[in-house]
Amino acid sequence: MDRSNLMGLVTDLADRLRSARRISVLTGAGVSAASGVPTFRGEDGLWRRYRPEDLATAQAFARDPALLWEWYGWRRETIARCAPNAAHEVLARWSQGGERTTVVTQNVDDLHLKAGTERLVRLHGSIWELSCSIGCCEAGRTAWRDDRVPMPGLPRCPHCDAPARPAVVWFGEMLAEADLRAAVQATACDVFLTVGTSSLVYPAAGLVEQARLNGAFTAEINAEATPATAIVDLAIQAPAELVLAELDRLLVT
Ligand code: APR
Repeated sequence: MDRSNLMGLVTDLADRLRSARRISVLTGAGVSAASGVPTFRGEDGLWRRYRPEDLATAQAFARDPALLWEWYGWRRETIARCAPNAAHEVLARWSQGGERTTVVTQNVDDLHLKAGTERLVRLHGSIWELSCSIGCCEAGRTAWRDDRVPMPGLPRCPHCDAPARPAVVWFGEMLAEADLRAAVQATACDVFLTVGTSSLVYPAAGLVEQARLNGAFTAEINAEATPATAIVDLAIQAPAELVLAELDRLLVT
């Protein structure tokens, strides 16, 4: 995308944001790429190296919990070395001090949280939280925080001693009802941004269409075109950390 065209689109988007009473931002792995967190489907994507069904399903966990914890252990160690980047910091600033901006993330790395984001919906859970792996353990359903890196051995449920699992949403699993409700509520806004996501995984990928149907101005900021590119009112193909920093600069001047 040539620079003048890019700046024209960014300026248009800044004008929309400036007059918006309610802003909602959906984020994906692309927002954490500049921090060094591997994406899922990009060149270095996790799903290029591993099969999701082998590592991100309840069946895979039941088959081999040690293998899964080895993989989540590696991801936690990778993420522990990463810090929020400009994209996280700008969204955190926008979310603070009022109800104007809501951030809905698919990311489980908690870098939005680390950046100080308020009004944050974590649709797919957190890699830093654990829960009990067996359904009948009522107490173990409430996730608990565990930041240990490296994880010493196979973690267990403090309530029933069953293997503990990462409190993330795996393929084939339902999102937490409250999170999904909050995400759908966020589609009632003036401007809906989808940032750094391939827009392939539902229900998250359906939110931009929901926002459009609710009359919101919709925009995509992503390194490459996605299925959402044809839906939104404005699409910017450029790094999120650069575009959000530029938007923020335009909004404060
Ligand atoms: N700025 C903007 N976009 C970027 C950047 C960047 N710096 N770097 C990469 N991207 C884009 C890629 O082009 C890609 O389209 O971010 C997108 C990341 O897409 P995925 O890797 O598919 O990640 P995401 O959309 O978050 O995946 C959704 O799928 O695997 C499951 O549960 C997992 O939450 C995840 C969900």
